[in-house]
Amino acid sequence: MSEHTVAKTGELDEGDRLLVELEGREIAVFNVDGEYLAYTNWCAHQAGPICEGTLSGTWDAEYDKEDLEVSMEWCNEDEVLSCPWHGWEYDITDGKSLTSKAQLPSHPVRTEGDDIVVSL
Ligand code: FES
Repeated sequence: MSEHTVAKTGELDEGDRLLVELEGREIAVFNVDGEYLAYTNWCAHQAGPICEGTLSGTWDAEYDKEDLEVSMEWCNEDEVLSCPWHGWEYDITDGKSLTSKAQLPSHPVRTEGDDIVVSL
C-alpha cells in the first residue's frame, strides 16, 4: 500500500472535491460534512468520469396502492453523485449505486496534521 499527501485540509472545504492523479489513476477526494472520502474516477456503468458529476440529491418515490397515487420527495441533498455520462447515481458517503449493486472503488483517507493523505 502506498500513501500520498494530496492537499492541506484548509484547501478542501465542505462540499469541495479535488481530482488528482496517483500512480496513473484519477482519484477524487471529497469533503462531505468534514469527512474526507476518496474514489477512483470510474463509473461502474461504462467507465465514465463519475467524480466529475454533480453532487446533489435525488427523488424518492412511493406508490400508494390503495389511493393509486405516487408521492415524490427530494432527499439526501448533497449526498448523491450523478455520473455526467448517463446519470447513474451513487451515495457519496459509501460509494454504493442507488439503483444497482455497483460500488465505486474507494480508497482510505486520513489526515496527518493538516495533510490529507490517500492510501492506494
Ligand atoms: S458511464 Fe456513468 S452512467 Fe454511464
